Amino acid sequence: MDDLLQVARRAMLHAHAPYSKFHVGAALRAEDGSIHGGCNVENAAYPQGTCAEAGAIAALVASGRKRILECLVIGPGPETITPCGGCRQKLREFAADDTPIHLCGPDGLHRTMTLGQLLPLSFGPHHVSPA
Ligand code: THU
Repeated sequence: MDDLLQVARRAMLHAHAPYSKFHVGAALRAEDGSIHGGCNVENAAYPQGTCAEAGAIAALVASGRKRILECLVIGPGPETITPCGGCRQKLREFAADDTPIHLCGPDGLHRTMTLGQLLPLSFGPHHVSPA
């Protein structure tokens, strides 16, 4: 998990959050062990901003990977950050119910939950194209 934390911390330093001033970093481990980071990128047209998780997912997919084995999110604290609702659904596209989501603050790991705990009874790819 330390490798994910390092990548997420570095990405968080690059967050573009001049409006909320709430800097977030995310890191994902893909099926081959590779790690992909992202940060939130806000926009003067507020709804156009993107979350850290979305950036990390885009990096993972752009690199040719399609599965998320583990996810780590880091926020500024003191409260434990959790992925927003939209990001839970975005993660669900490439992750399973039992995928661990590590929730971190500047002081390190706060708690680990599964995607299924964060997004119960989720709507996923299998609903649209059953195997
Ligand atoms: N944010 C994320 O990047 N990820 C989340 O899961 C929660 C919220 C960002 C979006 C916005 O730039 C800032 O945090 C404040 O909401």
